[in-house]
Amino acid sequence: SIVFLNGEYLPQDQAKISPMDRGFLFGDGIYEVIPTYGGNTVGFVAHIERMQAGLSAIGIELDYSFSDWQAVIDNLLAKNDLGNRAIYLHVSRGTDSKRAHAYPTGVTPTVFAFSFEIPPAPIADKTKAKPYNVVSSEDLRWKRCNIKSTSLLGNVMHFQQSHELGLQETILFNQALHLTEASSCNVFVVKDNIIATPALDNQLLPGVTRKLLLTILRQYSSFVVEERTISMDEVRAADELWLTSSSKEVAPIVTLDGTPVGKGEIGDVWLQAQALFSQFKY
Ligand code: PDD
Repeated sequence: SIVFLNGEYLPQDQAKISPMDRGFLFGDGIYEVIPTYGGNTVGFVAHIERMQAGLSAIGIELDYSFSDWQAVIDNLLAKNDLGNRAIYLHVSRGTDSKRAHAYPTGVTPTVFAFSFEIPPAPIADKTKAKPYNVVSSEDLRWKRCNIKSTSLLGNVMHFQQSHELGLQETILFNQALHLTEASSCNVFVVKDNIIATPALDNQLLPGVTRKLLLTILRQYSSFVVEERTISMDEVRAADELWLTSSSKEVAPIVTLDGTPVGKGEIGDVWLQAQALFSQFKY
């Protein structure tokens, strides 16, 4: 496939980055994953805003406007194939001549983007949706999970916990036994038709799907929607649990730690939420 590296489009096997790149040596960078369907991005502005917030949080100055990023996405789609593709954007602090912790001055950020085929967008159909089985764990990541850092070892290790059990995600609780998120998704809890998700803070990524879903539910449904602290007891007593992410949209969890969630089936509130998301996500 054709990828983007520092202003150029080239075949993936010709894209080369120095081993002295701080993205490689320190995981010193910010990334985004943006889904596109038939050339239409989902949540473009929110994704780019989050990346700019992440870059500014870690002191990387990059002069890319919204239209510059849009052009990268449009070109990657045109040079590869429209259809259903995710766009991966990655900005590292850049390549330095030495390995030193301090932010170097005078280095140019490395900007890399590639695209890859994804399945068609999820649809609101109980018979076609993939049911998720998940495990829980103490959240052992750092205290800046609001930054979409390329340092993903904490997330990778948590994901692996579920993978080794033949499950699809690990949902995480802090030491106070409050829900944070999952290793690569946000989490929603439904009880008595009230939809809740953890409030944003440094313990979780401000997911674009989370944000779009909250906006859509508030605008187009009559469900009560809450952003607040959620206890482990509430999670275990939920009628429905959902994961949200750019690729999964709204994904129903049917078992947690081997125990059925609610009736252990894909729920009716999920059906309505995914239907509204499908309709209004653009
Ligand atoms: N994962 N929380 C974490 C830790 C994530 O890595 C992600 C996204 C989300 C959901 O965010 P969004 O709705 O903006 O996709 C929540 C990406 C897709 C990944 O690493 O592949």
